[in-house]
Amino acid sequence: MLSSAPPTMDPRHILRAARLGWGGAVMKTVTEEPTVDPRTRLGVLRREGKAIGMNNIELLSRESLKTWTDDWIPKIKQEAPKDFIFIASMMSGPEPEGWTALAETMSQTGADAIELNVSCPHGSPEKHMGAFIGQDPKLVEGVTKAAKKGTDLPILVKLTPNVTDIVPIAKAAERGGADALSAINTVESLIGIDIETATPLPIAYGKDRKEQFSTYGGFCGPAIKPLGLRFVSQIAKALPDIPISGIGGIENWTGATEYLMVGARTLQICTAVMWYGFSIIKDLTKGLSSFMKRKGYKSLDSVVGKALPKITTWTALTKLPPIVAHVIKDNCTGCKDCVIACADGGYVAIQMRDGAAVINEEKCDGCGLCYVVCRDNAIEFIHAR
Ligand SMILES: Cc1cc2nc3c(=O)[nH]c(=O)nc-3n(C[C@H](O)[C@H](O)[C@H](O)COP(=O)(O)O)c2cc1C
Ligand code: SF4
Ligand code: SF4
Repeated sequence: MLSSAPPTMDPRHILRAARLGWGGAVMKTVTEEPTVDPRTRLGVLRREGKAIGMNNIELLSRESLKTWTDDWIPKIKQEAPKDFIFIASMMSGPEPEGWTALAETMSQTGADAIELNVSCPHGSPEKHMGAFIGQDPKLVEGVTKAAKKGTDLPILVKLTPNVTDIVPIAKAAERGGADALSAINTVESLIGIDIETATPLPIAYGKDRKEQFSTYGGFCGPAIKPLGLRFVSQIAKALPDIPISGIGGIENWTGATEYLMVGARTLQICTAVMWYGFSIIKDLTKGLSSFMKRKGYKSLDSVVGKALPKITTWTALTKLPPIVAHVIKDNCTGCKDCVIACADGGYVAIQMRDGAAVINEEKCDGCGLCYVVCRDNAIEFIHAR
């Protein structure tokens, strides 16, 4: 599914995605008042020119609640394929009444479910909304209960990663009556500084429209996948019965499979669509289908949670067997990156011989640093001989 973000800002976008094969969409979050956003509002983290993460200081839907409920949602439900799932995303303040009223309104639109945004990390918390609510189990339970009061539709609660422990928050949502959880929203961040002008990024303007400022934003894209996998797996282990919609850095079928394997039952994507377009769904579904065929998985259900039993505590890990690095000679280009890394950050176990790296198994500690720095897939791990 498309997650709540610019690709779901209006029916034009959502219907185009539906026609291209997306299974559903969570609309851009609405609240009582439409948003006016700062310009610019997106920042990027690059590695050798390639974007690996993005941060945004954008808030909620710029369109009114009334347009969504009276025109846009009915239009989407009418024109999208019958099995396309439309999820209404909404946000209110810490008072329960707002959530009940919004849920009542959304119930009458034809939406298939409602996602409660208690997780936007920027702007909203300043108004005691978004992650301000999502960081407090009592508030999460309260607003979930309040929303349930206003609707019979299934409720998903979208959780914030900007907490020390997500499990008490997930449990609070479940106590409040959540039918499912979505995780994660963006990670609060400062994406960078323009060092020429000492200005934080992305550059926006203050109230005088002249002086440049920025603010903390929400980080997303491939760089946050490890966080998403952590949070989803922690929720899935603690609350095995509640369905989880996995979000965060999915850009291809392998990322999608990883989320399924740590317990997500549905998947949501934002950044990869913003960077590469709706058509990524073709490779995503094709890749996942052929993987399942190759591995003999008969259904998505059989993939869900497959890796969970293998996530254990550090204490439960044995320090044996004696694993060491080994160079796949045919792949080694002789770049020496691993030699430098192992000399200064590892156990001084690699030398160059005849233009290729060679591991000294006596010295190798199996730390994995050479594997991290090798760009040519030339390091594998073997049992020490
Ligand atoms: C520009 C932008 C706007 C977003 N707006 C919303 C929003 O209105 N409501 C919401 O729940 N999440 C919003 N998100 C968060 C995404 O839905 C998603 O949770 C997050 O980006 C992580 O997924 P990704 O790594 O696939 O982008 C927004 C993200 C971006 C980049
Ligand atoms: S980093 Fe990889 S390619 Fe470069 S020398 Fe080491 S093993 Fe060979
Ligand atoms: S696994 Fe660690 S110690 Fe062994 S060769 Fe690689 S970097 Fe060096």
